[in-house]
Amino acid sequence: MTSSPTKSVLVTGGAGYIGSHACKALAQAGYQPVACDNLVYGHPWAVKWGPLEQGDIADRAWLDALIARYRPVAVMHFAAYAYVGESVQDPGKYYRNNVAGTLTLLEALRDHQVRHCIFSSTCATYGVPAVMPIDEATPQAPINPYGASKWMIERILADFEVAHGLRSLSLRYFNAAGADPDGEIGEEHAPETHLIPLAIQAAQRGEPALAIFGTDYDTPDGTAVRDYIHVTDLAVAHVKALEDLLAGGASGALNLGTGQGYSVREVVEAVEVVSGRPVPVREAARRVGDPPVLVADPRRAMQRLDWQPRYSSLSRIVETAWGWHAGR
Ligand SMILES: NC(=O)c1ccc[n+]([C@@H]2O[C@H](COP(=O)([O-])OP(=O)(O)OC[C@H]3O[C@@H](n4cnc5c(N)ncnc54)[C@H](O)[C@@H]3O)[C@@H](O)[C@H]2O)c1
Repeated sequence: MTSSPTKSVLVTGGAGYIGSHACKALAQAGYQPVACDNLVYGHPWAVKWGPLEQGDIADRAWLDALIARYRPVAVMHFAAYAYVGESVQDPGKYYRNNVAGTLTLLEALRDHQVRHCIFSSTCATYGVPAVMPIDEATPQAPINPYGASKWMIERILADFEVAHGLRSLSLRYFNAAGADPDGEIGEEHAPETHLIPLAIQAAQRGEPALAIFGTDYDTPDGTAVRDYIHVTDLAVAHVKALEDLLAGGASGALNLGTGQGYSVREVVEAVEVVSGRPVPVREAARRVGDPPVLVADPRRAMQRLDWQPRYSSLSRIVETAWGWHAGR
Protein backbone atom coordinates (compact mmCIF):
# COMPACT_ATOMS: atom_id res chain seq x y z
CA MET A 1 0.00 0.00 0.00
CA THR A 2 1.35 3.43 -0.86
CA SER A 3 0.85 6.23 1.60
CA SER A 4 -0.72 9.43 0.25
CA PRO A 5 1.86 12.09 -0.61
CA THR A 6 2.19 14.97 1.83
CA LYS A 7 0.42 18.09 0.63
CA SER A 8 2.77 20.99 0.04
CA VAL A 9 1.92 24.57 0.91
CA LEU A 10 4.05 27.46 -0.35
CA VAL A 11 4.68 29.90 2.48
CA THR A 12 5.90 33.21 1.08
CA GLY A 13 7.77 35.09 3.79
CA GLY A 14 8.26 31.73 5.51
CA ALA A 15 11.60 32.78 7.00
CA GLY A 16 9.96 35.76 8.70
CA TYR A 17 8.36 36.04 12.10
CA ILE A 18 4.77 34.95 11.53
CA GLY A 19 5.52 32.84 8.43
CA SER A 20 8.01 30.66 10.30
CA HIS A 21 5.49 29.97 13.06
CA ALA A 22 2.93 29.10 10.37
CA CYS A 23 5.44 26.62 8.89
CA LYS A 24 5.65 24.88 12.25
CA ALA A 25 1.86 24.71 12.58
CA LEU A 26 1.54 23.38 9.01
CA ALA A 27 4.10 20.64 9.65
CA GLN A 28 2.31 19.70 12.86
CA ALA A 29 -0.92 19.39 10.88
CA GLY A 30 0.75 17.06 8.34
CA TYR A 31 1.55 19.46 5.48
CA GLN A 32 4.94 20.13 3.90
CA PRO A 33 5.61 23.87 4.31
CA VAL A 34 7.89 25.28 1.59
CA ALA A 35 9.31 28.57 2.85
CA CYS A 36 9.80 30.99 -0.06
CA ASP A 37 11.69 34.05 1.06
CA ASN A 38 14.19 36.51 -0.41
CA LEU A 39 15.78 36.80 3.06
CA VAL A 40 15.66 40.60 2.95
CA TYR A 41 14.20 40.38 6.46
CA GLY A 42 13.88 36.64 6.98
CA HIS A 43 16.26 34.29 8.79
CA PRO A 44 17.46 30.89 7.55
CA TRP A 45 17.53 29.70 11.18
CA ALA A 46 13.77 30.19 11.39
CA VAL A 47 13.11 27.62 8.64
CA LYS A 48 13.03 24.25 10.38
CA TRP A 49 10.01 22.32 9.19
CA GLY A 50 10.54 22.11 5.45
CA PRO A 51 12.74 23.40 2.65
CA LEU A 52 13.84 27.01 2.29
CA GLU A 53 13.63 28.28 -1.29
CA GLN A 54 15.39 31.61 -1.60
CA GLY A 55 13.92 34.00 -4.16
CA ASP A 56 11.61 36.92 -4.71
CA ILE A 57 7.87 36.78 -5.35
CA ALA A 58 8.43 39.31 -8.15
CA ASP A 59 10.52 36.72 -10.02
CA ARG A 60 8.05 34.91 -12.25
CA ALA A 61 10.51 32.33 -13.61
CA TRP A 62 11.50 31.35 -10.07
CA LEU A 63 7.85 31.03 -9.06
CA ASP A 64 7.05 28.89 -12.10
CA ALA A 65 9.86 26.47 -11.30
CA LEU A 66 8.88 26.35 -7.63
CA ILE A 67 5.22 25.65 -8.28
CA ALA A 68 6.06 23.03 -10.91
CA ARG A 69 8.40 21.32 -8.47
CA TYR A 70 6.23 21.25 -5.34
CA ARG A 71 2.71 21.27 -6.85
CA PRO A 72 1.31 23.05 -3.78
CA VAL A 73 -2.35 22.77 -2.80
CA ALA A 74 -2.28 26.36 -1.58
CA VAL A 75 -0.19 29.39 -0.77
CA MET A 76 0.07 31.21 2.52
CA HIS A 77 1.20 34.66 1.52
CA PHE A 78 3.13 36.51 4.23
CA ALA A 79 5.87 38.14 2.12
CA ALA A 80 5.62 41.92 2.35
CA TYR A 81 7.26 45.00 3.75
CA ALA A 82 5.53 46.04 6.94
CA TYR A 83 7.03 49.24 8.35
CA VAL A 84 4.23 51.80 8.48
CA GLY A 85 6.51 54.85 8.87
CA GLU A 86 8.75 53.80 6.00
CA SER A 87 5.70 53.27 3.81
CA VAL A 88 4.79 56.94 4.29
CA GLN A 89 8.34 58.04 3.37
CA ASP A 90 8.73 55.67 0.42
CA PRO A 91 5.29 54.53 -0.83
CA GLY A 92 6.67 53.24 -4.13
CA LYS A 93 8.73 50.65 -2.29
CA TYR A 94 5.57 49.35 -0.60
CA TYR A 95 3.31 49.34 -3.63
CA ARG A 96 6.03 47.67 -5.70
CA ASN A 97 6.87 44.91 -3.25
CA ASN A 98 3.50 44.31 -1.66
CA VAL A 99 1.07 44.98 -4.52
CA ALA A 100 3.09 44.39 -7.70
CA GLY A 101 4.94 41.44 -6.13
CA THR A 102 1.62 39.90 -5.10
CA LEU A 103 0.23 40.35 -8.62
CA THR A 104 3.12 38.36 -10.03
CA LEU A 105 2.50 35.66 -7.44
CA LEU A 106 -1.24 35.51 -8.11
CA GLU A 107 -0.74 35.30 -11.87
CA ALA A 108 1.63 32.40 -11.35
CA LEU A 109 -1.01 30.69 -9.15
CA ARG A 110 -3.62 31.33 -11.84
CA ASP A 111 -1.47 29.83 -14.58
CA HIS A 112 -0.58 26.73 -12.53
CA GLN A 113 -4.16 26.16 -11.30
CA VAL A 114 -3.31 26.70 -7.64
CA ARG A 115 -6.72 27.70 -6.32
CA HIS A 116 -6.32 28.53 -2.63
CA CYS A 117 -4.60 31.46 -0.96
CA ILE A 118 -4.41 32.54 2.67
CA PHE A 119 -3.37 36.18 2.76
CA SER A 120 -1.75 38.21 5.57
CA SER A 121 -3.88 41.29 5.82
CA THR A 122 -3.96 43.72 8.69
CA CYS A 123 -6.12 45.87 10.94
CA ALA A 124 -4.26 48.78 9.29
CA THR A 125 -6.73 48.40 6.40
CA TYR A 126 -9.40 49.85 8.73
CA GLY A 127 -7.52 53.11 9.33
CA VAL A 128 -8.98 54.94 12.33
CA PRO A 129 -12.40 53.38 12.88
CA ALA A 130 -15.06 55.29 14.77
CA VAL A 131 -16.49 52.24 16.54
CA MET A 132 -14.76 49.66 18.76
CA PRO A 133 -14.42 46.72 18.67
CA ILE A 134 -13.71 46.46 14.94
CA ASP A 135 -15.69 43.85 13.05
CA GLU A 136 -15.19 42.87 9.41
CA ALA A 137 -18.05 45.09 8.24
CA THR A 138 -16.16 48.17 9.44
CA PRO A 139 -15.33 50.28 6.37
CA GLN A 140 -11.77 49.85 5.17
CA ALA A 141 -10.12 53.27 5.02
CA PRO A 142 -6.35 52.86 5.39
CA ILE A 143 -4.38 55.98 6.33
CA ASN A 144 -0.91 54.95 5.17
CA PRO A 145 0.58 53.23 2.09
CA TYR A 146 1.29 50.02 4.03
CA GLY A 147 -2.39 49.63 4.98
CA ALA A 148 -3.44 50.71 1.49
CA SER A 149 -1.19 48.10 -0.11
CA LYS A 150 -2.87 45.34 1.89
CA TRP A 151 -6.33 46.71 1.13
CA MET A 152 -5.51 46.74 -2.59
CA ILE A 153 -4.40 43.11 -2.43
CA GLU A 154 -7.70 42.14 -0.78
CA ARG A 155 -9.45 43.82 -3.69
CA ILE A 156 -7.25 42.08 -6.27
CA LEU A 157 -7.96 38.73 -4.61
CA ALA A 158 -11.71 39.34 -4.94
CA ASP A 159 -11.27 40.09 -8.64
CA PHE A 160 -9.07 37.01 -9.17
CA GLU A 161 -11.76 34.83 -7.68
CA VAL A 162 -14.37 36.11 -10.10
CA ALA A 163 -12.07 35.85 -13.12
CA HIS A 164 -9.94 32.83 -12.28
CA GLY A 165 -11.60 30.89 -9.46
CA LEU A 166 -8.79 31.58 -6.97
CA ARG A 167 -10.39 31.32 -3.53
CA SER A 168 -8.83 33.18 -0.62
CA LEU A 169 -9.19 34.14 2.99
CA SER A 170 -7.69 37.46 4.01
CA LEU A 171 -6.74 37.30 7.66
CA ARG A 172 -6.63 40.77 9.20
CA TYR A 173 -4.28 40.50 12.13
CA PHE A 174 -4.12 42.92 15.00
CA ASN A 175 -0.76 42.99 16.86
CA ALA A 176 1.20 39.77 16.48
CA ALA A 177 3.31 39.09 19.57
CA GLY A 178 5.06 36.40 21.61
CA ALA A 179 7.23 33.50 20.52
CA ASP A 180 6.93 29.77 19.93
CA PRO A 181 6.06 28.24 23.35
CA ASP A 182 8.70 25.52 22.75
CA GLY A 183 11.32 28.23 22.28
CA GLU A 184 12.31 27.03 18.79
CA ILE A 185 11.66 30.34 16.98
CA GLY A 186 10.69 33.88 17.89
CA GLU A 187 10.56 37.48 16.81
CA GLU A 188 13.67 39.14 15.41
CA HIS A 189 13.07 42.22 13.30
CA ALA A 190 15.82 44.65 12.34
CA PRO A 191 14.94 47.42 12.83
CA GLU A 192 12.51 46.44 15.58
CA THR A 193 9.45 48.65 15.95
CA HIS A 194 7.13 46.41 17.97
CA LEU A 195 6.37 47.29 21.57
CA ILE A 196 6.99 44.00 23.34
CA PRO A 197 10.48 43.24 21.95
CA LEU A 198 11.46 46.88 22.49
CA ALA A 199 10.28 46.75 26.12
CA ILE A 200 12.21 43.49 26.57
CA GLN A 201 15.36 45.07 25.12
CA ALA A 202 14.97 48.03 27.49
CA ALA A 203 14.61 45.62 30.44
CA GLN A 204 17.62 43.54 29.34
CA ARG A 205 20.01 46.39 28.60
CA GLY A 206 18.67 49.24 30.73
CA GLU A 207 18.84 51.49 27.65
CA PRO A 208 17.66 53.02 25.46
CA ALA A 209 14.58 53.94 27.44
CA LEU A 210 11.35 52.72 25.85
CA ALA A 211 9.48 55.60 24.20
CA ILE A 212 5.80 55.79 25.13
CA PHE A 213 4.19 57.71 22.27
CA GLY A 214 1.21 59.58 23.76
CA THR A 215 0.23 59.64 27.40
CA ASP A 216 -2.84 61.86 27.02
CA TYR A 217 -5.17 59.61 25.05
CA ASP A 218 -8.72 59.14 26.23
CA THR A 219 -7.92 55.67 27.62
CA PRO A 220 -7.86 54.46 31.26
CA ASP A 221 -4.15 55.28 31.77
CA GLY A 222 -3.67 57.73 28.89
CA THR A 223 -1.58 55.38 26.73
CA ALA A 224 -2.65 53.66 23.51
CA VAL A 225 -4.53 50.36 23.70
CA ARG A 226 -3.91 47.49 21.26
CA ASP A 227 -5.12 43.92 20.78
CA TYR A 228 -2.13 41.52 21.06
CA ILE A 229 -2.51 38.08 19.52
CA HIS A 230 0.04 35.34 20.17
CA VAL A 231 1.92 34.30 17.03
CA THR A 232 1.18 30.60 17.66
CA ASP A 233 -2.54 31.37 17.87
CA LEU A 234 -2.18 33.19 14.56
CA ALA A 235 -0.33 30.23 13.06
CA VAL A 236 -3.02 27.76 14.15
CA ALA A 237 -5.73 30.04 12.73
CA HIS A 238 -3.90 29.98 9.39
CA VAL A 239 -3.97 26.20 9.25
CA LYS A 240 -7.66 26.18 10.14
CA ALA A 241 -8.33 28.80 7.48
CA LEU A 242 -6.46 26.67 4.94
CA GLU A 243 -8.50 23.59 5.84
CA ASP A 244 -11.70 25.59 5.62
CA LEU A 245 -10.80 26.74 2.09
CA LEU A 246 -9.64 23.27 1.01
CA ALA A 247 -12.98 21.89 2.20
CA GLY A 248 -14.78 24.33 -0.09
CA GLY A 249 -15.26 27.29 2.25
CA ALA A 250 -16.08 30.63 0.67
CA SER A 251 -13.60 33.45 0.21
CA GLY A 252 -13.70 36.33 2.65
CA ALA A 253 -11.95 38.21 5.40
CA LEU A 254 -11.54 37.38 9.08
CA ASN A 255 -10.17 39.45 11.94
CA LEU A 256 -7.55 37.69 14.04
CA GLY A 257 -7.32 39.25 17.48
CA THR A 258 -8.52 38.43 20.97
CA GLY A 259 -11.10 41.16 21.54
CA GLN A 260 -9.15 42.29 24.60
CA GLY A 261 -6.99 45.42 24.56
CA TYR A 262 -3.96 46.28 26.68
CA SER A 263 -2.39 49.71 27.15
CA VAL A 264 1.28 50.47 26.62
CA ARG A 265 1.68 50.87 30.38
CA GLU A 266 0.06 47.49 31.02
CA VAL A 267 2.49 45.88 28.58
CA VAL A 268 5.45 47.58 30.27
CA GLU A 269 4.23 46.34 33.66
CA ALA A 270 3.86 42.79 32.34
CA VAL A 271 7.45 42.86 31.04
CA GLU A 272 8.66 44.09 34.44
CA VAL A 273 6.78 41.30 36.24
CA VAL A 274 7.98 38.54 33.91
CA SER A 275 11.60 39.75 33.71
CA GLY A 276 11.92 40.89 37.32
CA ARG A 277 13.64 44.01 35.96
CA PRO A 278 12.59 47.64 35.55
CA VAL A 279 11.75 48.90 32.06
CA PRO A 280 13.12 52.45 31.71
CA VAL A 281 10.61 54.59 29.79
CA ARG A 282 10.45 58.08 28.36
CA GLU A 283 7.22 59.84 27.54
CA ALA A 284 6.99 61.20 23.99
CA ALA A 285 4.40 62.96 21.85
CA ARG A 286 1.68 61.02 20.06
CA ARG A 287 2.66 59.74 16.63
CA VAL A 288 0.59 60.99 13.70
CA GLY A 289 -1.96 58.39 12.66
CA ASP A 290 -1.81 56.32 15.86
CA PRO A 291 -5.41 55.72 16.97
CA PRO A 292 -6.06 55.63 20.74
CA VAL A 293 -7.62 52.16 20.69
CA LEU A 294 -7.57 49.28 18.18
CA VAL A 295 -9.39 46.16 19.34
CA ALA A 296 -10.80 43.35 17.20
CA ASP A 297 -14.17 41.76 17.23
CA PRO A 298 -12.82 38.27 16.41
CA ARG A 299 -16.11 36.37 16.67
CA ARG A 300 -16.41 35.64 12.96
CA ALA A 301 -13.04 33.85 12.88
CA MET A 302 -13.79 32.02 16.12
CA GLN A 303 -17.08 30.70 14.80
CA ARG A 304 -16.10 29.90 11.24
CA LEU A 305 -12.72 28.34 12.06
CA ASP A 306 -13.71 26.84 15.43
CA TRP A 307 -10.67 28.71 16.74
CA GLN A 308 -9.86 30.14 20.14
CA PRO A 309 -6.65 31.90 21.14
CA ARG A 310 -4.81 29.66 23.62
CA TYR A 311 -1.59 31.56 24.27
CA SER A 312 -2.78 35.16 24.03
CA SER A 313 -3.09 36.24 27.66
CA LEU A 314 -0.71 39.16 28.12
CA SER A 315 1.35 37.20 30.64
CA ARG A 316 1.77 34.18 28.31
CA ILE A 317 2.69 36.43 25.38
CA VAL A 318 5.33 38.23 27.43
CA GLU A 319 6.64 35.00 29.03
CA THR A 320 7.20 33.35 25.65
CA ALA A 321 8.75 36.50 24.18
CA TRP A 322 11.01 36.92 27.21
CA GLY A 323 12.02 33.27 27.06
CA TRP A 324 12.99 33.65 23.42
CA HIS A 325 14.95 36.89 23.84
CA ALA A 326 16.65 35.74 27.01
CA GLY A 327 17.89 32.64 25.15
CA ARG A 328 19.38 34.62 22.21
N1 LIG B 1 3.71 41.52 12.76
C1 LIG B 1 2.47 41.99 12.87
O1 LIG B 1 2.01 42.39 13.94
C2 LIG B 1 1.59 42.02 11.65
C3 LIG B 1 0.28 42.54 11.78
C4 LIG B 1 -0.55 42.54 10.65
C5 LIG B 1 -0.11 42.01 9.45
N2 LIG B 1 1.16 41.53 9.35
C6 LIG B 1 1.59 40.99 8.06
O2 LIG B 1 2.05 39.67 8.27
C7 LIG B 1 3.10 39.36 7.36
C8 LIG B 1 4.30 38.81 8.11
O3 LIG B 1 4.73 39.77 9.06
P1 LIG B 1 6.03 39.52 9.93
O4 LIG B 1 5.92 40.34 11.17
O5 LIG B 1 6.26 38.06 10.02
O6 LIG B 1 7.13 40.20 8.99
P2 LIG B 1 8.60 39.69 8.61
O7 LIG B 1 9.30 40.85 8.01
O8 LIG B 1 9.22 39.01 9.78
O9 LIG B 1 8.30 38.60 7.49
C9 LIG B 1 8.10 38.94 6.14
C10 LIG B 1 9.02 38.06 5.31
O10 LIG B 1 8.77 38.29 3.92
C11 LIG B 1 10.02 38.30 3.24
N3 LIG B 1 9.82 39.08 2.02
C12 LIG B 1 9.49 40.39 1.91
N4 LIG B 1 9.36 40.72 0.62
C13 LIG B 1 9.61 39.59 -0.11
C14 LIG B 1 9.62 39.30 -1.50
N5 LIG B 1 9.38 40.25 -2.41
N6 LIG B 1 9.89 38.03 -1.90
C15 LIG B 1 10.16 37.07 -0.97
N7 LIG B 1 10.17 37.29 0.35
C16 LIG B 1 9.88 38.55 0.79
C17 LIG B 1 11.00 38.92 4.23
O11 LIG B 1 12.35 38.57 3.96
C18 LIG B 1 10.50 38.35 5.55
O12 LIG B 1 11.15 37.12 5.88
C19 LIG B 1 3.37 40.63 6.57
O13 LIG B 1 2.68 40.53 5.34
C20 LIG B 1 2.76 41.71 7.43
O14 LIG B 1 2.33 42.80 6.67
C21 LIG B 1 2.02 41.52 10.42
